[in-house]
Amino acid sequence: METKKDWYKDAVVYQIYPKSFCDSNGDGIGDFKGIISKLDYLKDLGVNTVWISPCYPTPDKDNGYDISDFDNVDPKFGTMEDFEEMLEEMHKRGIRLLMDLVVNHTSDEHEWFKSAIQGKDAKYRDYYIWKDPVNGGPPNKWGGDAIGGSAWIYDEKSGQYYLHVGFHYQPDLDWENPKVREEIANMINRWFDRGVDGFRCDVINMISKDFDAPHPGDGPRLHEFLHELYEKCFKPHNAFTVGEVWDLPPEDSLMLTHPDRGELTLAFQFEHMRVGREDGKRFYPAEFKPHDFVDVLAKWQKGLNGEGWNALCMENHDQPRCLNRFGNTGKYRRESAKMLATLLYCQQGTPFLYEGQELGCINPIFHTLEESIDIESCNNQDILVKKFGVEETLRRFSFDSRDCGRVPMAWDDSENGGFTTGKPWIKLNDFYKDINAKNELAAADGVYGYYKNLFKVRAANKTLMRGDFELLKNADGEVVFRRFLEGEKDVYVVLNYSEKKIKVNKPCKGGKLMLSTHQRKRLDENMTLKPYEAMIVEA
Ligand code: GLC
Ligand code: CA
Repeated sequence: METKKDWYKDAVVYQIYPKSFCDSNGDGIGDFKGIISKLDYLKDLGVNTVWISPCYPTPDKDNGYDISDFDNVDPKFGTMEDFEEMLEEMHKRGIRLLMDLVVNHTSDEHEWFKSAIQGKDAKYRDYYIWKDPVNGGPPNKWGGDAIGGSAWIYDEKSGQYYLHVGFHYQPDLDWENPKVREEIANMINRWFDRGVDGFRCDVINMISKDFDAPHPGDGPRLHEFLHELYEKCFKPHNAFTVGEVWDLPPEDSLMLTHPDRGELTLAFQFEHMRVGREDGKRFYPAEFKPHDFVDVLAKWQKGLNGEGWNALCMENHDQPRCLNRFGNTGKYRRESAKMLATLLYCQQGTPFLYEGQELGCINPIFHTLEESIDIESCNNQDILVKKFGVEETLRRFSFDSRDCGRVPMAWDDSENGGFTTGKPWIKLNDFYKDINAKNELAAADGVYGYYKNLFKVRAANKTLMRGDFELLKNADGEVVFRRFLEGEKDVYVVLNYSEKKIKVNKPCKGGKLMLSTHQRKRLDENMTLKPYEAMIVEA
């Protein structure tokens, strides 16, 4: 495949959660052959890059984010040959593959940790972070995954603590150890040798730690470690890397991604995910204000402008469906799905979408506590039940649990939604008979078709692909922004982020309608926009 330098700017990235995408052999778990069978579906949508959530061997306590062997694939997904076939089939279609790189920690069942826990003299002891007790307790106050718990686990045998900043079975690797960094760089290069094109880098700002800081992550050697990986791995392979980092302002995000620095290509920002949550906290819904949502997005457009590049994302495997959070799941499901796509993907940056988002999927409903199986929900369950009772806890899980997007992809309205012929590993979405790929593709006003047209319009327009961004209006549901690029015509995006009809003016003199969510035929001086109506206009 051609290796244009800035290929990430032309990418449309589709995230596959492999367990839930498509099952080819009836064991209830998605797999590589299942993915191969859907590549034409992705190609047709306009996707040219896939990010696959971890598919390495794993005890699966965190759905693969607990890796026990970096160099293989988990047999539940198929063999290494199946993986290679999948990659080849992607490349044949001009689709590149980003793997998930989870190197802040391993599973506690990784060979390195199984050795390390044997004692102070064990071969791989120094691959992990061990500390003596301080005043008879953990070395610092960092919190762990269990509410009120510590990030440090005491090991009776050696009398030392080891660190896990993620879940308790995810011990942190010691990046201060040059051997660890070398192992990881070599491992990354082996995946490049197998042909992968880049990586999504899990909780990557955690790899350097300052033990005196109030929170782990963003330690003093973060940039040095990333630059080392860049020189050894990413640069020689012209790779596209995107970091998962939380709660960094644009200035700090640029420190990770500015092209002059040689670290990562992009970093996600999740600030807009905080809108509609009390203090940004999952399971604590607050009033959602579209105005604030748009403002945060615009802040990041401005913050990275001319120096960095946004990763445009509103769903992933850790987030519920965007329609439940930011749109409408009822009467205006399709309309709000299209409006949100227009709002997000007409900004400057690289689109990321999560499986099912292109169908306007909405969250399932969790009817019993047993149905909600994700570790983060389980960890929070007791507290929520104590505070709010079971019914309200279930309501909150159905609004905000990580399982919301992890239920099987619905391909059609047949039994098990065409995902599997067996028993799915997690419940189906309650709404799969209505909301599935077959229906969305067949409907004249389906969401899939709109996404497809949107990506087409975008790809063919230089201003939308590269231009700068300016927010012109964000009040009472009316949102207008402009994209501009030297030597090209301006592009205006006008949308109604409300359930009311609103009156708007034509955004510019003349103008040509490039795309409309509501089959609008022409532009008028004064227009009444229907609920969630959106349009793209070329000046
Ligand atoms: C990242 C992953 C999430 C995982 C966590 C711990 O945030 O996206 O799914 O649980 O890291 O590894
Ligand atoms: Ca399977």
